[in-house]
This record gives sequence, structure tokens and C-alpha cells, in this order.
Amino acid sequence: MPDILFVKPTLPRAGAMVLPLAEGFTLSGLAREADEATGGAIARGLEAAGFKGKKGQTCTLWAPGGHLSRVVAVGLGATPDERSAEAAGGATWPLVSAEPEAVVAAEGLNAALAAALAFGARLRSYRFDKYRTKEGAEDKPKLVRLAIASAEPEAARAAHAPLSAVADGVFLARDLVSEPPNVLFPEEMAERCRKLEKLGVEVEILGPKALKELGFGALLGVAQGSAREPRVVVMQWKGASQGGKNGGKGEGRAGPVAFIGKGVTFDTGGISIKPAGGMEDMKFDMAGAGAVIGAMAALAGRRAKVDAVGLVGLVENMPSGTAQRPGDVVKSLSGQTVEVINTDAEGRLVLADVLWYARERFKPRFMVDLATLTGAIIVALGHEHAGLFSNDDDLAQKLTAAGTAVGEALWRMPLGEAYDKALKSDIADMKNVGGRPGGSVTAAQFIQRFIDTREGPMPWAHLDIAGTAWATKDSATVPKGATAFGVRLLDRLVAGHYEG
Ligand code: BES
Ligand code: MN
Ligand code: ZN
Repeated sequence: MPDILFVKPTLPRAGAMVLPLAEGFTLSGLAREADEATGGAIARGLEAAGFKGKKGQTCTLWAPGGHLSRVVAVGLGATPDERSAEAAGGATWPLVSAEPEAVVAAEGLNAALAAALAFGARLRSYRFDKYRTKEGAEDKPKLVRLAIASAEPEAARAAHAPLSAVADGVFLARDLVSEPPNVLFPEEMAERCRKLEKLGVEVEILGPKALKELGFGALLGVAQGSAREPRVVVMQWKGASQGGKNGGKGEGRAGPVAFIGKGVTFDTGGISIKPAGGMEDMKFDMAGAGAVIGAMAALAGRRAKVDAVGLVGLVENMPSGTAQRPGDVVKSLSGQTVEVINTDAEGRLVLADVLWYARERFKPRFMVDLATLTGAIIVALGHEHAGLFSNDDDLAQKLTAAGTAVGEALWRMPLGEAYDKALKSDIADMKNVGGRPGGSVTAAQFIQRFIDTREGPMPWAHLDIAGTAWATKDSATVPKGATAFGVRLLDRLVAGHYEG
């Protein structure tokens, strides 16, 4: 990862120069100076290449003169905004990462857009290469210094600071999700949550003994087949109540916002075992928890003026002599009993107890859970949207808008009594699967039964991120692999509505 600096405009003597250009551009400022220094090679090259500044368009001019090894033009579209600046930064990264230094001629952009461009480049620069021992230096990125030349570098630097904290949260989530399942099991994942303490997050780890005493029967049923002990981690960021002079809002202050994540560090399916093909993907079955941890890191990292709690249920779903069987009946923390028809429908069992616990302990103002919950959501929405299920139109609308703003799209799915009927059991209060039709919806209905509304309404939303947690191809700001879907969305939700 390169150092990102904001500097006053000066023409680079060597290396790469990046020109973010909007449609209908004329070369000005540094770009114009560079063009003059190269005897007009830049204007001629862009013209010859048909570069128009369209969104996503890029053009590399090699050795145009003036000691520059390359000039990379990147399109901002007709009306540059934070999203297009971010995408331009992302598109730039792979085109300059082989150079030791690059200067971005961003004097034409305001501070917010310059910061967004840097943020996009950083997001795209992510790599998980700790297990590659034979990669040659020539295959690794060399960029050590990315200088953003701005007319107002201090303002751009200030605008970039919170984005940098969000990028840290995204990288943390991507690291967690990328780790192989022999390395990242529940205990290890809980230990990594401890790192948030240095950001000022209170971290509390519940092990099997505490979970048993508290009555987390549904979660423990999933965990019992694994040699690895389960954990539930509670993370608290008190940025409003301890936020100094204008922090807390005194008496009638509403409870914290609450984020809950499914953290199945590996999902074999248990006794209802999955087929071998592609099973390795199930290391990302903790991506909901990863997103919650990353979001907490982002909020704390930028000292958000909000009280937020993050809870993650960490288990490994394995088949063994101690594993739970199809037909078992477990007693959840809520007191409701569940007939486990399919041990591969384990995420909902984990969430059931953690959601119940979150509501009882924190009386939050709302709860959002994130989970790689169903293959059925991929059938419904592919990899373009995550499924959104909610009992609250206002929360659903805020989440959808936050997702659109940060490029993490949600699509609202239905809930309703008719679906809920599919969960009827002959022997217990419910069964854990509702059959193939509407599989994502019946899964959400199951979870909804563990949102305690006895003391009044509890706004809740469930994001099924099974299709969006992992990317098989690069996009502007998300290299293929773990996406950290949800980190930016939750951060934006808070920034837009629950701070200050
Ligand atoms: N973790 C899976 C869902 C999943 C599938 C995530 C593919 C990402 C990619 C979940 O625990 C699961 O196994 N769900 C079952 C539910 C079924 C047994 C009712 C499924 O989707 O098949
Ligand atoms: Mn499963
Ligand atoms: Zn799962």
C-alpha cells in the first residue's frame, strides 16, 4: 500500500502522471504544463486514442517526453461526483502501480473529489498476498508514493482522513474474509476483534461456558460438531455518550445502533453435508461478521459521534460424532424451540441467539444483521444486489439509499405471514428450514421470530450478502476476492442519520 500524500501542484520530473479529466475537458494547470513540456504529445496522444473523459475510460501514453515514463488519463464522466472520482482513482491504480511514484493532477477537483479519488485508489490497491512465498518483485506493485496535487491540499487531506479510516475497516474485513479456514477459526477471529481496543472500542468475548450459562442453545447446537470452540464477541463504540462536550444527548437518548454478523468460519453443512465442488468457498461464510467488525473499526477509526454495538456469532459448522443431527430439537436463548431439519441451515440458528441477546442487553434503536445466509438469494439477485428484508420501511429506505451512495446495492425482498407458515414443525415451535420455494424469504422469516417486539416495535433489517461478499472479477474499487460488502454501507448509514 502506497503512502498517499496531498501536495501543492508541481510538475513531476519522472515516473507517472495521472490526469483525471471530465467530458469536454481542455488541458489546464499541471496537465497543460506537462503537455507543453512534452511538445504537445499528451494532447496529440489523447486525441489519437479517442479519449473523451467518459466515466471509466482510461488511456495510457507511454514515455511522452519530459522524463515522464507514462501519463494515464482517466475519465470522470460528464458531471464529476464523489462516486466517479472514486471510480477514477480505482481505475488508475492498476495502471500506475508498477511505477515507484505517481502524481495525480487533481487541482481541477475540489477537496472532496480529490479525497474521493485517493480513497478509490486505496480501495483498489488491496491485496491478500501473505501466503505467496514465490511471487517475484516484478509481480508485486511498486508504487510507494501516490501524490495528489491539489489547489487546497490541507482541505483535501482533511476530507481524506475519515475515508482513510473507512478504508482501514474495509481492509480489515477483507483480511478476515480472505484468511483460510485453518487459520481463522472462531477463537482466532475473536482475538482479531481485540485489535479494535486500540481504537477505543470495548471488546468482550464470550466463550462456551458463558454461552451455555446464558442459554445460547441454537448457536451451541451448530458449534457442537467442531473441535473449535465457539465465541460471541460484543464490540461497543461509545462515540456519542463519551464524545466530549457536544457528544451525548442526555436523558431521553435512544439506545445504540446495533449491527449483528453471521460468523461461520467454515460451513461444511454439518451432517447435512455440502457437495465437494466449491466447498472451499465456505470460508467466506463469516463475511457478515467480517463486515460488522470492519464497520466498527471504521466508526471508531474516524471517531464517529454515535453509540454503536457490534455483535458477531462465531462458530464452525462441522460433521462429526458430536455434531447435531437432522431431527434434533434445540432450545434457543429466546426460549423458543427449533427442530433442526437441515444442519446446513446453520446461520439462522446462530443469528437467532445473537439477535435475541442484542435486543435484550442493549435495547438498541434498531438492529441490522448481515449474513451469507442463503444460496437462494444468489438465484434471485445474482451478484449485483444483496437482499434486504425489513420490518421497517424507514430503516429499509435509509439502508437502500446508503447502499446506492457507496456502491453496495440492496434490493428489498418481501416478508409476510404466508411465508412464515412454512416453518411450522410437528414437534417444536418451528423448524429451521421452509423448503425450496422462497428460500431466502423463509430464512428471513425464521430470523424475524427472534426479534423481540414484546416491549414495542424493534426496527430490524436483515441483509443477505451470500451473493455479494465475494467477487470473481475486479471492479473499479473492489479487486476480486473478499469485497467487505456492508462496511461502507453501515458507515454511510451512520454518517447520514445517526451522528452529531
Ligand atoms: N452459507 C450457506 C449459504 C451460502 C451458499 C452462502 C452459497 C454463500 C454461497 C448457508 O449456511 C446454507 O448452507 N444455506 C442453505 C440453506 C438450505 C439448507 C435451506 C442453502 O442456501 O442451500
Ligand atoms: Mn449452511
Ligand atoms: Zn452458512
